[in-house]
Amino acid sequence: MKKMIVLLMTLVMAAAITACQSREEPLPISSTPSASENAPVLEPKSNEPEPESSHILIAYFSLGRNAEYPDGIDASTSASLVLDGEEMVGTTEYVARLIQDNVGGDLHSIETVEPYSTEFDAVVDQNHEEMNAGTMPELKESDLDTAQYDTVFIGYPVWATNAPQAIFSFLSQYDLSGKTVIPFCTHDGYGAGSSCGDIADAIDGETAVLDGLAIEAPDVPGAAGTVAEWLGNIGMEEQPGDSIEAEKTAITITVGDMVLDGVLYDTPLAGEIREYFPLTISMVGFGGREYYGGVDFYPENLEGGQTTFENGDITYCESHHNMAVFYAQTDDPTLSVEVIPIGKVTSDLAVFDELPRNVDVTFALAE
Ligand SMILES: Cc1cc2nc3c(=O)[nH]c(=O)nc-3n(C[C@H](O)[C@H](O)[C@H](O)COP(=O)(O)O)c2cc1C
Repeated sequence: MKKMIVLLMTLVMAAAITACQSREEPLPISSTPSASENAPVLEPKSNEPEPESSHILIAYFSLGRNAEYPDGIDASTSASLVLDGEEMVGTTEYVARLIQDNVGGDLHSIETVEPYSTEFDAVVDQNHEEMNAGTMPELKESDLDTAQYDTVFIGYPVWATNAPQAIFSFLSQYDLSGKTVIPFCTHDGYGAGSSCGDIADAIDGETAVLDGLAIEAPDVPGAAGTVAEWLGNIGMEEQPGDSIEAEKTAITITVGDMVLDGVLYDTPLAGEIREYFPLTISMVGFGGREYYGGVDFYPENLEGGQTTFENGDITYCESHHNMAVFYAQTDDPTLSVEVIPIGKVTSDLAVFDELPRNVDVTFALAE
């Protein structure tokens, strides 16, 4: 007998942005740059399990990974693709990556053996046939081992007011009993439909299904803040065991004649950059959100890039070969290039609002 515990979140804010239903208010619109003409659809950022501490799986189905788009397709010719930096990804995959940026964990793209058409009407017809017949499309072979995860996010585009049948293939193939399952979806304005309930029903065994997140497709490029807020509301802040912030070294950040406190993370990149401390960088203010400046060394450990930031983040950017201190979120939370957090300013960030445009910033180990 199937037992299901559906945990309803009681926070008012959670109800406003989650509940696996259509948002009533639009999300901020991102100014993510327009599609470059030949941006290819690339491999997922990470399909491989991360180090042993990781116990979060983010499994998602996106049409972008399940249809064979011709070379040269861009976001303006396919409603189902958005740009992540310079990479074209499916709408739902983009949200999966935002979740990973916040909580870590492993991404897993759910892919069918037979690709779907790139023609919208053909996919609609095929989906109707599969739904009516109860077809479970065969999934590509994978060495995914769900036993190592205790929390599983399930992401999908809403198809005909439900999840695509491939999601039900996934749920029938992999044992999620005893785990916390968190649905999230993207849609074109009609909300999550019956998908969350049907997903909960499709899981055998005792499972906690948390309230999910439904985001309208055009809002996805600007959804970093909404995703972070939702994760906070459902208690899914960064897990200590997964966190790059778990071990920290105290540092000072001297800005003009002010000395701020901060921490440096215990990561290979932060370790490399620490070798150059005390490190003075001539920085310039940008966009009311950050001060950045070029560096004259070339680090080798470049894992962990992301296109979102938290206030106080000290980052290295490989593309622009610079370091930055972020101090304020703006209406445009999505960065056009990836940055890698190496530490954080822990003092009050208000000083950055008052700084001149050009300023020298010195990073040093605290005494
Ligand atoms: C076959 C099909 C059926 C769809 N049905 C719905 C629907 O019922 N309600 C809705 O709001 N959007 C619907 N959409 C739009 C998708 O949910 C939306 O574009 C989604 O963001 C695509 O995500 P993806 O790029 O990750 O595949 C449908 C799209 C397709 C291809």
